[in-house]
Amino acid sequence: MRTPFIAGNWKMNLAPAEAAELARGIAGAIAGLTGVRVALAPAACALQAVCEALAGSPIAAAAQNCHWEASGAFTGEISPEMIRDLGCRHVIIGHSERRQYFGETDETVNKKIHAAFRAGLEPIVCVGETLEEREAGRTMEVVGRQLDGALAGVAAERATVATLAYEPVWAIGTGRTATPEQAQEVHAFLRARLAERYDRDVADRIAIQYGGSVKPGNAEELLGQPDIDGALVGGASLKVDSFAAILRVAH
Ligand code: PGA
Repeated sequence: MRTPFIAGNWKMNLAPAEAAELARGIAGAIAGLTGVRVALAPAACALQAVCEALAGSPIAAAAQNCHWEASGAFTGEISPEMIRDLGCRHVIIGHSERRQYFGETDETVNKKIHAAFRAGLEPIVCVGETLEEREAGRTMEVVGRQLDGALAGVAAERATVATLAYEPVWAIGTGRTATPEQAQEVHAFLRARLAERYDRDVADRIAIQYGGSVKPGNAEELLGQPDIDGALVGGASLKVDSFAAILRVAH
């Protein structure tokens, strides 16, 4: 059985003090809750404050991005080793906003995934189609290509500690969620693709999160699907009440 895994992606919101306060608030609200894995992804400048706020709590910290080199002349970037040294467990890689606005490609996503494993981080790897691609009937082709690109050269034992996040671009921040059936269809496809790449056992161990306008009101239906193992939550992770409500549904 895969333990549900819910991650909050705070994007470019919350300065360190506010982020630490929200992290403490979430940790307090779900104290004693078992049977769900939780991670919080603040902006890079707030990682240290959030790691400190979460010390002693089962909630993990995640970065939203990383570079693929360990160090060097890459102005403005941070490396997976730096992220790990702060105390983070995860790093989100290939979020659609990074692909759309910052030129990330399947190739750079793949380099970042290898770098994350090198540093001992557990990557959360995002895939998802645009509305245009969905309407053209290309969803499976797109997410299949993104999955293959992301995991090129990744051995099975590493793949099992990665998490996949299926985030249809048209559902992110729009209030428009994929129906549970639409999401399940893609999750089942991704799991079958993982079974082809590796084997059924490996595919069954990899958590696949759904992301895109997940809220307390739709989390139950989405998480009830057999291949939806958790959620990557943006807007609804910025408030204690809404995020804690999603976590209670997941547990
Ligand atoms: P949203 O964002 O929940 O605000 O739609 C999800 C994400 O981008 O990870």
